[in-house]
Amino acid sequence: MLDRRRFLSSTLGLTAGLAVSKDLFAQLEHAPTSLPNPATFSANEDAYWAELRKQFLIPADEVYLNNGTVGSSPAPVLRAIFDGYNTTERMDQVEPEDYPIWGYAAWNEFRDPLAQFVGCNRDELALLRNATEANSYVANGLDLKAGDEVLMTDQEHPGGEMPWQLRAKRYGIVVKKVTLPKPVKDGAQVLNLFNDAITPRTRVMFFSHISTNTGTVLPAKELCALARSKGILSAVDGAHTPGMMRFNLHDIGCDTYSSSPHKWLQAPKGSGFLFVRDEVIDRIWSTIATEGWDEPKIRAERFQRIGSSNVPALMGLRASIQLANDIGMERIERRHRQLADYILAEMLKRGAESWTSPDPTVRCAIVTVNVPGLKRMELENWLWKTKKIRIRGGEPSKLRLSTPYYLSKADINRYLAAFDEFRKANA
Ligand SMILES: Cc1ncc(COP(=O)(O)O)c(C=O)c1O
Repeated sequence: MLDRRRFLSSTLGLTAGLAVSKDLFAQLEHAPTSLPNPATFSANEDAYWAELRKQFLIPADEVYLNNGTVGSSPAPVLRAIFDGYNTTERMDQVEPEDYPIWGYAAWNEFRDPLAQFVGCNRDELALLRNATEANSYVANGLDLKAGDEVLMTDQEHPGGEMPWQLRAKRYGIVVKKVTLPKPVKDGAQVLNLFNDAITPRTRVMFFSHISTNTGTVLPAKELCALARSKGILSAVDGAHTPGMMRFNLHDIGCDTYSSSPHKWLQAPKGSGFLFVRDEVIDRIWSTIATEGWDEPKIRAERFQRIGSSNVPALMGLRASIQLANDIGMERIERRHRQLADYILAEMLKRGAESWTSPDPTVRCAIVTVNVPGLKRMELENWLWKTKKIRIRGGEPSKLRLSTPYYLSKADINRYLAAFDEFRKANA
């Protein structure tokens, strides 16, 4: 039985929980209900982005430079999710068997806008939770024999590499790696490294379109063409690409593409996707099996039959695509590049070594620098606890700085001033 103090604190906890929700809904109500006027963009780009910034719940005094880990869903996305719950959780659907048993349908109303956004056919897409899950489907689902080789870079995220390592440990396939220089000079260098590492046993080339470690944008189209020319399957981990820069899956020519739009597209967490080129769909076994797992006619939908699922997240995904289309991906990408180029140039002035390519075509909105001697965890803690600035570091003294479009130059200057202050105090 709860004693009085614990009863009160748990009741207060409940009240606080409700209060937080009220606060959230108040913020959503206060967010502008329309996007900034496109004319504002022509007159004053910074004013346009500053107006868009009001769509995000991130407090105005916080600088969020860690979009590479996870994005923040803005008001139009959150409204779509909550509207979804509001219309479905009443359990008053029209038909007697129509209630939220989600996970057994085509969900074309979500796959269609996504297919258009990423440049493929609806039937080549499976709506999954994230890139890790999508990568696991590919690594687990292909017919491979012991000794068959998977060639990847040394910069893969664990959510990309480990599905193959699991397969290696369990079934004896071999994971081989090319070492990418830090920084990569240009796309041709990457292509040559892969070309030189291919052997007669290479069955799969797996690589991140945009490296989580260094922000390098790999020459995906050329790598996939190389794989195809040698009869090798190309599996791309595109966790960072949607919403960061323009791309088209059919143009890239990959066999599979995994993604987490909750990063740069600012979609709800847990709304990922797997693309499988139509000609390849029948070569991949399902990993999760329920009704439809062995039904070739439904094409890639086969892979999204995962049992009960979360459809309001898909409503949020659709809203995030709409938002990116409304702003315009060309405009978003340009802004991403401007901010990243600025922060990179400023960090170089401060003596940092760039792990991100000097070639602007091989980078976009993630800048990684190494600052020799810097105690990066101390900096990360200090920035967050004393300045409300979030960055992501790595060993030994690496800083990864993500520049989503809603940051302002003033935000970046705040980070730079704080970085200088820390260096001075710790010289
Ligand atoms: C390249 C890459 N792949 C996969 C992942 C894993 O993403 P998720 O946790 O959304 O599956 C990440 C996350 O940062 C990533 O950067």
